[in-house]
Order: sequence, then structure tokens, then C-alpha cells
Amino acid sequence: MSYEERTPGSKALFERACRHIPGGATYSIRYFEPYPLYIRRARGSRVWDVDGNEYIDFWMVHFAAILGHGYEPVVQAVRDQLQYGAHLGFCNEWEVEWSESVCKWFGAEKVKPANSGTEANMYALRLARAYTKRRKVGKVFGGWHGGSDDLHEAVSYPYDKPASLGLPSMRDVVLLPFNDLEGAAKAVRGKELACIIVEPMLGSAGAIPAQVGFLKGLREICDRTGSLLVFDEVVTGFRHPGGLQRYFGVRPDLTTLGKAVGGQYFGGAGGFCGSSEIMDLLDQTKRTKFWERSFLGGTYTGNALTMRAGHAVISELQRRKEEVYPLVDSLGERARKGIAEVFNENHFEAYVTGLGSMFGLHVTKEMPMDGESASRTKDVILHKDLFDHMVRNGVAYMTPQSPHMAISFAHTREDIDKFVALTEEFVRAYPERKSVG
Ligand SMILES: Cc1ncc(COP(=O)(O)O)c(C=O)c1O
Repeated sequence: MSYEERTPGSKALFERACRHIPGGATYSIRYFEPYPLYIRRARGSRVWDVDGNEYIDFWMVHFAAILGHGYEPVVQAVRDQLQYGAHLGFCNEWEVEWSESVCKWFGAEKVKPANSGTEANMYALRLARAYTKRRKVGKVFGGWHGGSDDLHEAVSYPYDKPASLGLPSMRDVVLLPFNDLEGAAKAVRGKELACIIVEPMLGSAGAIPAQVGFLKGLREICDRTGSLLVFDEVVTGFRHPGGLQRYFGVRPDLTTLGKAVGGQYFGGAGGFCGSSEIMDLLDQTKRTKFWERSFLGGTYTGNALTMRAGHAVISELQRRKEEVYPLVDSLGERARKGIAEVFNENHFEAYVTGLGSMFGLHVTKEMPMDGESASRTKDVILHKDLFDHMVRNGVAYMTPQSPHMAISFAHTREDIDKFVALTEEFVRAYPERKSVG
């Protein structure tokens, strides 16, 4: 059955949505042609659309849901909290619990919550500027840190156009290549940066891990030049115990967070942590005048529901880390290995990337090492066809253009094997895409 035949309910909703929502979708990345899927229900590793079709979900709430959809202890904590009130508007006990669990997870001294990953990065940048008394910030080509004015730059290849209309023209962003230490060193030379912000694994560019030498090199550059190193661990912070900073053994000055840190699916997910020396620039008791401190805050910041849900997720990950990470990492390995074998055995020119519980497929002519090599030779049509094949066969992910996947504690070997089998079916339907050699 075609996508259209399977999903009349989604089509009808999209037509209605277009009347009042620009482009018919609340977040443009959730749109794909001819219309997006409208999901009604989620449980474990599965989602169901409004027409009742079931999908194995590899998008997992924008990679947030490491424990799986509807994970009972977290849902139970939220249910319990609702009896008392979701947001109480005052300080609450759960922000204290949350702060302790985040600091323990990352070995940080202080943390502040924010309402999204975008907001976390925006405020972290401001703090870095306040701390260093410098204006310019460094970000990598192909890095995605949310849509704040400062960082919404050089997101999509070929990076030669503004990433959005309406951005202020004078921004203090210095762009550097990913996984190219020499290039990065050259780009930042003499720039006096407040900070360099980088994802330890590029997420939206397609699950492309940093090389450890690159991160270590950035650490050295920052130490030498008096800049702060900021790791955006919005995606990766809870995909490895202690985040990818612990996996790579490179310590940033600030770590920005989102997604799982706010409970995976209870909204308002963000925050950042670091040493007291830096974080105390946010301390209103030590810096009593507003012009002496860096600002962060908002109506929903630190609300009890999000804090409690976030705390429940982190506590569960702490408690069950010997079960969760070996499982999700081995499933990731199984997927990467299985897909690579499919590509090799069928001489299909494509690559698989990723680390731990994330993997990315790239129908490209070169191994993706950064945003540019993931895009330069990308076969856009085949990416779309692959997506269509998966969705018609009960596998869902985002986005057609960037098939990068997140595995959760609820996924099984059978889920992975189905993905690999569908990849093989797809690859066999394209015998003309032979790899050279
Ligand atoms: C690495 C990274 N940083 C920041 C963000 C922005 O987070 P949010 O969408 O919660 O604003 C995202 C979102 O996908 C992300 O992947």
C-alpha cells in the first residue's frame, strides 16, 4: 500500500492544519512530502498514527526518549506530581533533587535549568561572554544548537545562505570545520573567542562522532587562548553515563543540556552545568545587582513537573545504568554492523555512522566526517525513497533527508533486525548504485 492509501487521517489533519498553521506543521522538520504523519499514541519503541498504523520509532521524541515511550516510573512520577500541581510558580523541592542528579551525572558543581536546548545554548553563550568579557563565539559548520540568533548559522550545507530570514546581520560567530583540528586552529587564530561550542557527535548532520583528537585539540586551543569550551550535549548527555565528555575523556567548561534532562517528553527540557567559578556569575546572592550578573530565567523555568520528570529519568538511568547502556549500545552496534554488511555485500555505495545508541545512514560517495562530507554527495532522491520504503513498512524516523536514528531501552534485537532487513530490501531494489571497487 502506498503512503497515501495507508494514511488518509493524516492527510485530512494536514489539510485542516494548513488553514491555521503556516506550512501545516508546528515544527518544519516534522513535515515531509506529501504530508506528515500524525501520531496519536506512543509506547515502548512504538508509535501509532491516527489511522492506527504501527511503527517502530527511531526518532524517539527528537532523540530524547532514551528510556522509551511511556516509561512507567517516569509517567508515575508525573502522575503523582499532577496531584500537587504541575507548575507552582515558586521554588520547589524537585528543582533541588534535579540539580543534585544532574551535577552527579556530569561531575559538575552547579547547574541551572532552561526551557529548551535552544534556550540553554543561548544563555550558556551569554554566560561565556560574561565570564570572558569577550563577544565572539566559535561554532562548527553543520553544528545545530537550536534557533537562537547567535547560533543559527552554518547549519545546512553549503552554508552560503543565511540559515533563516530575519536574523540580525551583525553577529559575532566564527565558523570552524568539524573534525579538522588544523582548520579549526586556523579559523580561530587571533579571534579572542568567548567560547567554542561543539556537539561531541553531530546530531542533525547525521550522527557523526567527533574524533577524540579533535575534541582534545579544541580543549587545548581554549586553554591556550582563554576561551571556554562548551559541549552541547543536548542529544548526547544521557546517551552515555556522564555524557560523551566522559566517553571521550575531554572535559568542557560548560555542558548544555536538553531533551532527556527534562523528562524525555514532559516539555521544557534544558539546562547547563559547569564549575562554580563560572556558574556563580548567575548567582543573585553573590551578585546582587542585575548588571553584575548574567541573566537566565522565565515563567516556566524549573517548574515542578519538568524537574520531577527530569529527576525521575536521571535517577532511573543511574539506577539501571548497568542494564540500559550495555543494551542500547549493543543494539546500536548491531544496527551499524548489520547495515554496513548490507551495503558491502550488495556493493551499495553508502555509509553508516554513529556511536552507542545512535546511528546514521548516508547515501553518499564519501564517508561522512562532518556536515559537508555528509551533504556534498548526498543522493537526495534515494534518501527520500528509503524513507518512503521504511514508513510504508512500519518504521518511522526523522527526517527523510537525514536518516539518523536513536535507540531506546525499549527497543529489541527484533526491532533492529527489521530495520536492517528493510534496508537490505531497499538496497536490492537499486542494483545500479554500485560502489566502485
Ligand atoms: C545538539 C542540539 N542542541 C540544541 C538543540 C535545540 O534543542 P531544543 O529543540 O530543545 O530547543 C537540539 C535540538 O535538536 C540539538 O540537537
